[in-house]
Amino acid sequence: MRDLGIIPDGALLIHNGTILDVGPGHRIENLSAARDAREINAAGRVVMPGFVDSHTHLVFGASRLDDFEMRIAGATREEIAAEGGGIQSSVRTLRATPAKRLERRARSVVSNMARHGTTTVEAKSGYGLDEKGEWKMLRVLDSLQRKPLDVIPTFLGAHAIPLEYRDNVDDYIAWMCSGLMPRIRRRGMAVFADVFCDRGAYSLGQSRRYLEEARMLGFLLKVHAEQFSHSGATRLGIELEAVSVDHLDHVDSEDIRLLARSATMASLLPGSVFHLGLERYAPARMLIDEGAAVALATGFNPGTSPSYNMQMVLSLACAQMRMTPAEAVSAATINGAYAARCADRAGSLEPGKPADLIMLDLADYRELPYYFGVNHVHMTMKRGVIIYQEGSVASCPEP
Ligand code: NIG
Repeated sequence: MRDLGIIPDGALLIHNGTILDVGPGHRIENLSAARDAREINAAGRVVMPGFVDSHTHLVFGASRLDDFEMRIAGATREEIAAEGGGIQSSVRTLRATPAKRLERRARSVVSNMARHGTTTVEAKSGYGLDEKGEWKMLRVLDSLQRKPLDVIPTFLGAHAIPLEYRDNVDDYIAWMCSGLMPRIRRRGMAVFADVFCDRGAYSLGQSRRYLEEARMLGFLLKVHAEQFSHSGATRLGIELEAVSVDHLDHVDSEDIRLLARSATMASLLPGSVFHLGLERYAPARMLIDEGAAVALATGFNPGTSPSYNMQMVLSLACAQMRMTPAEAVSAATINGAYAARCADRAGSLEPGKPADLIMLDLADYRELPYYFGVNHVHMTMKRGVIIYQEGSVASCPEP
């Protein structure tokens, strides 16, 4: 993760949206295929792969500002939930918001992601939690596809427990497994299935039932694991060969050891810890040092992480979790792509891959996490097309 393969004064040759070659500028410029190429000058800037944000909940109906103020005033997660806040409040607004409005909102989020350097994004359902709501979310995700980012859809039918099933959660899981989930799979509406296994959400047994069914149906698996408490979800994810286990703020040393020996990615979401004002970040240093494959994602959602800025996530990873800038870049690009199962087409600048890249207003990539909360993106390119270009600030004439 520390080897970024940096090429000083490098160049890329792109044809039809695909990287043809990459290497030292003097070599690339002299290729016969480069003779008529249009030149984009990146002198003095850093060019790197676009971010792969491998965990988001980008479709939702409204911000959760009341939760925010209650938390600032000292309310706990349980107290906020008891007042009708938390995920349940997003479920209410999602169900009440027409698909067109959700789509408009989500489109603007995707544009902002592109402005901040993300070129591929995983996105979950999970605020519908009923037939209509879950289909609505998945259809909105489908409508965002390739406009202009690649969107990898995840079915999160087991997010919160729907109020209608508060007293019979097992019936809800049974309906998911035998009704909704197989239909979603048949229609090809989601690549991954995901579950929130934690205190106040799904138990380990319920999560197992959901994930086993999902796996049998052919979904790839993700698990929200050890976010607020230690539930055993990491081990369950490893046992069921989940592609990633996400959050991991409360993993223990045995989880870390098992993760290091498995093919399951450890996806860390420090934005949630930051926004909730918690102290316990995932033990990134131990995970990496033991040999686990670590990815970083925003976890963008209206409750725990209202930021789609991967650059800020890198700053948190370095300052709060002691990842090196190089590790953070790897975790947010190629490892993110592994966590979203798209490493064959995203996450690195290699011949044959789509030209999904960003140009940063930085002379050294280490400035990326160092200047925190800042948008360094000068230009974002998706499949060889410039989809975002930084504007200039106009001068203001003297009165
Ligand atoms: O990843 N933990 C569960 N899901 C989200 C929170 C969603 C919400 O609060 O709306 C997360 O942090």
